[in-house]
Amino acid sequence: MKTAVYLDHAATTRLHPKALEAMLPFLRDAYGNPSGNYALGRQAARAIDEARSTVAGVLNCRPQETVFTGPGTESINAAVKGVAFAQRQAGLGNHIVTTTLEHHAVLHSCEYLEEFGFEITYVPVDAYGMVDPDGVARAVNERTVLVSVMLANNEIGTVQPIARIVEAVRERAKSLPGARRRVPVHTDAVQGANALDLDVAKLGVDLLSLSAHKFSGPKGAGVLYVKRGTPFLSQLSGGGQERQRRAGTENVASIAATAVALREAQQGRESYRAVCGALTRRLAEGVLRAVPAATFNGHREQRLPNNAHFSFEGAESDGILSALDKLGIAASAGSACNSATWEPSHVLVAIGMPLRRAAGALRLTAGPENTEEEIDYVLSVLPGAVAESRASARHGLSAK
Ligand SMILES: Cc1ncc(COP(=O)(O)O)c(C=O)c1O
Repeated sequence: MKTAVYLDHAATTRLHPKALEAMLPFLRDAYGNPSGNYALGRQAARAIDEARSTVAGVLNCRPQETVFTGPGTESINAAVKGVAFAQRQAGLGNHIVTTTLEHHAVLHSCEYLEEFGFEITYVPVDAYGMVDPDGVARAVNERTVLVSVMLANNEIGTVQPIARIVEAVRERAKSLPGARRRVPVHTDAVQGANALDLDVAKLGVDLLSLSAHKFSGPKGAGVLYVKRGTPFLSQLSGGGQERQRRAGTENVASIAATAVALREAQQGRESYRAVCGALTRRLAEGVLRAVPAATFNGHREQRLPNNAHFSFEGAESDGILSALDKLGIAASAGSACNSATWEPSHVLVAIGMPLRRAAGALRLTAGPENTEEEIDYVLSVLPGAVAESRASARHGLSAK
């Protein structure tokens, strides 16, 4: 069935036509292996070089500091595990600081590292999903080998003060007894590329992860920025591609498209913020006006301009989503709220949302191709979908 209104841009985005164009030659005749020492191979290698300088331009870093990876998840795994193992191998410690709000790519990487003897401190966030930079800094000790804090949250859209966090961590590291090194800071910037400045010098981070399909690039492709001099142990064993940091024959078509999509995202950032911001405000105000007992979640100002996250007490996400789906509207509960076990998303737990509200969560994420008419259509049907879900939830409970 054709989706009439797509409001799940945090999940993925449509491929940019210029990104598609950039891919096609490498899916057709320019199929050479970039390691090949002949014209076809050199053509592919040149495309990667060009893509690398484009990406480095957007991130404001050296081309050699960028690594093309598989999906955002791989970029994050490479950063968290790669730095953790390299630092421990150098005898620098075994402690990692992160937050309770991170994506599972970070949280599960940390859990994996716990199996290998690492200790993890999960810094809590406030009711809006904000991390206190001083709280992060206080968690750093003389055994800390990595700090990882996301730039923007994928569920509630809260944007973290990364530059201030980096500054606070640096100050803290200097004040520790026997301080002899920097504590590298990684940021999962997967949700940030469309709306936020990715200049790594301004952010101050040592590592940054991106996922192409979130900014109208292809799926399964990502980028990892690794600042020169950051201890890093590749998590993939094999060939020497990507300066020994990511073995495996490069996905040339996706790399070329990733760079084009990132460049387009940067060039369109201001208009993206304005267009998505206006659509999302219209949506949020309309929902809060039309749906009784609705709450708007996440930070009011420090948030992604295209993210509206609500909870409807007494309703169930699954019911709302399937009603919207029947009406041609693609939306999300955020991360899956497991209705079978009644386990709410870890993000909603992290911000202290009670279960009865978390169970009725709805995330609507706009994109620049959405229109006011589409938003008004959603506003015309959503109150009914919530009311129906509330009625059937009441019915379900009383039937038990
Ligand atoms: C904040 C965040 N980090 C990491 C990822 C993982 O990215 P990918 O799906 O490309 O592996 C996602 C995807 O939803 C995300 O939103």
